[in-house]
Amino acid sequence: MELRVVHWPLTKIEADVLVLGLHQAGKVDDELDYPLRGAINQALKAGDFRGEYGATMVMYTGGALPARKILLFGLGMEWQLDIRKLRKAAGMAVRAARDSLGSGGSTVAIAFPPIAGLTAGSADQFIVEGALHGLHRFKSFKTTEEVKADVATLLVVGGGESQPQVMYGRIVAEATNLARSVNWLPGNHLTAAMLGEKAQAVCREAGVEIEVYDKKGCKELGLGLLLAVNQGSEEEPRFIVMRYKGNGGNGPWLGLVGKGVTFDTGGISIKSSENMWDMKYDMSGAGAVLGAMQAIGKLKPRCDVIAVIAATDNMPDGNAFKPGDVISGLSGKTVEVRSTDAEGRLVLSDGLAYAVKQGASRLITASTLTGAANVALGPIRFGIVANDDAWEDEVLTAATEAGERGWKLPHDEEYYDLFKSLIADMSNTGTGRSAGTVVGGLFLMKHVGDTPCVHMDIASLAWRNAADRYEDVGATGVAVKTFVRAAIRFAEANK
Ligand code: BES
Ligand code: ZN
Ligand code: ZN
Repeated sequence: MELRVVHWPLTKIEADVLVLGLHQAGKVDDELDYPLRGAINQALKAGDFRGEYGATMVMYTGGALPARKILLFGLGMEWQLDIRKLRKAAGMAVRAARDSLGSGGSTVAIAFPPIAGLTAGSADQFIVEGALHGLHRFKSFKTTEEVKADVATLLVVGGGESQPQVMYGRIVAEATNLARSVNWLPGNHLTAAMLGEKAQAVCREAGVEIEVYDKKGCKELGLGLLLAVNQGSEEEPRFIVMRYKGNGGNGPWLGLVGKGVTFDTGGISIKSSENMWDMKYDMSGAGAVLGAMQAIGKLKPRCDVIAVIAATDNMPDGNAFKPGDVISGLSGKTVEVRSTDAEGRLVLSDGLAYAVKQGASRLITASTLTGAANVALGPIRFGIVANDDAWEDEVLTAATEAGERGWKLPHDEEYYDLFKSLIADMSNTGTGRSAGTVVGGLFLMKHVGDTPCVHMDIASLAWRNAADRYEDVGATGVAVKTFVRAAIRFAEANK
């Protein structure tokens, strides 16, 4: 899709649909309404269109303007509009515009009014992000598919000074959409080996160095926890290491680590069959890391980033690891396996220990680690668990700036007692259902030594179950934007 920034006035904009955002109780420029003989202001006055958040109304211009149709889109009360609502509004608006294209044309222009508290450039960034997410389509495996209208050209009506922010929005939105596409794939279409190949293709294009270790390589590296999870599988694991050297490889290094469980049956502690198919998105942390590295490679912040994906599926068979087994990996710590379904923390811990050994001085992970994250926070905010308050605040700020929402969970030292083991340094589960997300996160901290580490449990946000007007149902690409923002802030802090 072509994306261009174009300039006012709206009376000069050629498009099949011109999306016009309107604040509730807002007015339309007379200059635009004049050729339409005041039709828009009439609709406003009559109350046919009030500008409530998400309201739409399509009008034909009858040749009075170079735009064939106008789609009025309500932004609600201006003071209630934040960056996330703005992004979502742009997504809903371009989707509605696309739906109204029919077979007639493929150019959509989007013009939102100035928004209090936001620079024009920043508003345009979030508008671009929302538009690209709204228009994203997942690859289907259907053999016959209805032909749908697509937007070939998107015009963002903004100022010339918006250009860098529009580029930024495009890069992070495309990276998020990449994560969505990858996370969406079923287990048989995305094995660990396939994920490794995909990562190679992405890194080649984004100018990021990459090494992909196969099973033999994982053994040589000493990744005992990843290998234990892989034991019951016919598919080889992959350990994917990406390096972006924006500071010439001199460090300091930011480490990003993702859980890449391409399918989680639970292993011998097998899950119930009802919703097991869901577990194809159990590599969403890995997808987020991959998306982030694509964006970082393109945005080129002046910092060094090492990104690690630990990939395998979690299958039961005669060779599979078992409850009660004691295993150890790269950190050297021993783990009693109480549940083979708590596999994410195992593979991630090897990834984290590796990043530390390679010199990472700050760590961030994303993973679909615990169902308990949904119990605690629902599909609104991801859970954050950390071992360092300052670094935790820093990552949370990055998330906020990126328009993502996390929530800090506690890490008092007593929580570590919840996963003590009689026979090993730790157990991989807590006691019953107590503090499931905290325990999952703190397990990771046991493998990073003193290195500040922030973990994002995205289990309840990685997949959108219900249809909505903003995005298609499916993988959301959550955490990509937080990773990218954190890298940019890391570069700033170490200038
Ligand atoms: N992949 C799951 C967590 C999950 C659940 C992600 C629902 C997305 C949606 C993880 O590997 C898991 O099974 N965790 C267990 C941990 C327990 C055994 C301590 C869980 O949450 O039940
Ligand atoms: Zn599991
Ligand atoms: Zn899992």
